[in-house]
Amino acid sequence: MTMALDETQLLDTQRAFDSVAADYDGPRGNNELIQRMRLTLWDTVRDAVPPGSRLLDLGCGTGIDAAEFARQGHHVVATDWSPEMVARTRARADEAGLMSRVQAMHVGIHQLDRLDDRFDAVYSNFGPLNCAPDLRVVAAECERLLRPGGMLVFSVIGRICPWEVGYYALKGRIKRATVRAARGATAVGMNRHTIWTYYYLPREFYRAFADHFSLESYRALSLFMPPPYLVDVYRRHRERFERLGRLDDRYGALPLLRDMGDHFLIVMRRR
Ligand SMILES: C[S@@+](CC[C@H](N)C(=O)[O-])C[C@H]1O[C@@H](n2cnc3c(N)ncnc32)[C@H](O)[C@@H]1O
Repeated sequence: MTMALDETQLLDTQRAFDSVAADYDGPRGNNELIQRMRLTLWDTVRDAVPPGSRLLDLGCGTGIDAAEFARQGHHVVATDWSPEMVARTRARADEAGLMSRVQAMHVGIHQLDRLDDRFDAVYSNFGPLNCAPDLRVVAAECERLLRPGGMLVFSVIGRICPWEVGYYALKGRIKRATVRAARGATAVGMNRHTIWTYYYLPREFYRAFADHFSLESYRALSLFMPPPYLVDVYRRHRERFERLGRLDDRYGALPLLRDMGDHFLIVMRRR
């Protein structure tokens, strides 16, 4: 197992996300390529839970998912380690008149022992779990918080992103091309801050949950499509890339292909 993050590193990550919270609904946090992956998580959660479920969002960011699920009639406890992100989620829910169905809380994934509730599903979108210091603790806490048979739906930053390797290798930026190969927490820059990030293969990730959860499915997100930070490349050839996006939709869950991609989407069920 890798060394757990210390308090200073967790605070680095918190500061990094605090610093971008105000404009995180813009290109950095929510461009077309991100929105495309988001829809796959929405569809997966919709298929995994009955109407009117109680959902827990880990690393809710500005609350786009929480607001969507609240709009669909679910009740969401939306948590994040960045107080600025929590404030954005609260404001979004307030503006949309969804406060009765969204409870925004400043709770890190490493602080789930502070929650005492029963949920039908826990979801987490776009890599908050890549910043969690100890996935085995997260797995045990999720088991405690979920009803028997409850679901986990997580999108996680993967280890093998062919687009990233190819793009940066062609530019001669070999260190950047191979950043996801690192073992243990890696310092990733954002807005002149540091996000401490662990990268996972789906099977490495599932190993931490296997004692409490059965694996239902996993699939690649943005394997044929470029990763979201290459949105300008996508915009130059939108139609051609949309065809690649359809390949993601059709083939992203196939063996081998599902082990790659910018993110993977993994679904587990409480035993
Ligand atoms: C890439 S953003 C994704 C936000 C949101 N889920 C979305 O779909 O837009 C990652 C989020 O994870 C949060 N985060 C990072 N480390 C965390 C931790 N240890 N516990 C909870 N949230 C964390 C960040 O503050 C940030 O809001």
